[in-house]
Amino acid sequence: MSAESGGRAERPLQQVEPEGDQQYFESYAGAEVHRMMLADKVRTEAYGRAIEALVEPGMTVLDVGAGTGILSFFAARAGADRVYAVDQSDILSVTEELVEVNGFGGVIECVDGVAEEIELPGKVDLIVSEWMGMFALTEAMFESVCRARDKHLAPGGRMIPGAIRMCLTPIEEPKLYDEHGLGFWKDDLYGFDYTPMVNAEIADLDTNSVEGDKAQALAPAAIVADIDCLRDPMEDYWFEASVDFEITRPGRLHGFLGHFEAVLAPGVVLSTAHDSPMTHWRQSWFPIREREVDAGDVFSLHFKARKDPTGVDPRKPTYFMEGEWRRKGDVVDKFFYCHHGTYE
Ligand SMILES: C[S@@+](CC[C@H](N)C(=O)[O-])C[C@H]1O[C@@H](n2cnc3c(N)ncnc32)[C@H](O)[C@@H]1O
Repeated sequence: MSAESGGRAERPLQQVEPEGDQQYFESYAGAEVHRMMLADKVRTEAYGRAIEALVEPGMTVLDVGAGTGILSFFAARAGADRVYAVDQSDILSVTEELVEVNGFGGVIECVDGVAEEIELPGKVDLIVSEWMGMFALTEAMFESVCRARDKHLAPGGRMIPGAIRMCLTPIEEPKLYDEHGLGFWKDDLYGFDYTPMVNAEIADLDTNSVEGDKAQALAPAAIVADIDCLRDPMEDYWFEASVDFEITRPGRLHGFLGHFEAVLAPGVVLSTAHDSPMTHWRQSWFPIREREVDAGDVFSLHFKARKDPTGVDPRKPTYFMEGEWRRKGDVVDKFFYCHHGTYE
């Protein structure tokens, strides 16, 4: 096997330590990040529809990571009796003001703290949370949501989102390939051949958030993880899966686009796919070395999502992609890539 990417050794999973997470919570203290999320109407309106569908009068709701409180407002408007809007970020002081200004002081209680550590007077009927980072897993906030679920959710309670699916699509997209590293080295630079630099690029690959709406799929998207947010343990989110992609037309394979689909309520699915309305998550770009492919070629991938094995930032996942490219049954090549999650 030609090891194409500088693989980093896997280490046992560490827990995200909320106490040591000051910088993370500081990143949510200012207006800009909340403006970006609230400006994302696809995201916010989908949550609004799901909350409207699932909240019934008399319910108690826990909003994990309330931010400026938008999901709590939706829940209160839908008739919840009590809503706990929990956040560990300093934004909560503004949220308290927003709750008063909007006249929900009697329903929404702002709780300053870490959702999985706070104590509540009783169990809740519904947990709502917008915890998804890039390709869902970046920020690893689902760990807090799972612990909060196990601690605070009443038997028979519900979760928003109720399920999350992670998907990959093999694509042709020369512009992304050129702009995000690998393709840059293929043309001569100032009259010199720099093509060997592509190996250095491959040894240290990131997965960035990109606008993949111009991407041409070379095979249908495949689901690499399908997680039941109500029942599955936290460990299942650090998934691994084997999938086969059968190429449907000749083209140049430049990499894979990652997206997620959050099932917020029955019939309410928030998709971040490149052919769905764009969200602030956009798509996650997993570049690989360019290959000229034919219809009928098969790419078999084993894909693994893990916490940063260097331990530098446990909120940034690392993705391992090991695979085989076959044509008419013969192996053309084998490959291994390691992509490091980023916040952008
Ligand atoms: C992606 S933002 C969502 C904000 C808001 N719910 C919305 O939809 O606009 C996530 C928020 O969760 C908070 N957060 C993350 N982990 C948390 C935890 N364990 N306990 C409490 N708050 C948390 C962050 O400070 C941030 O404000």
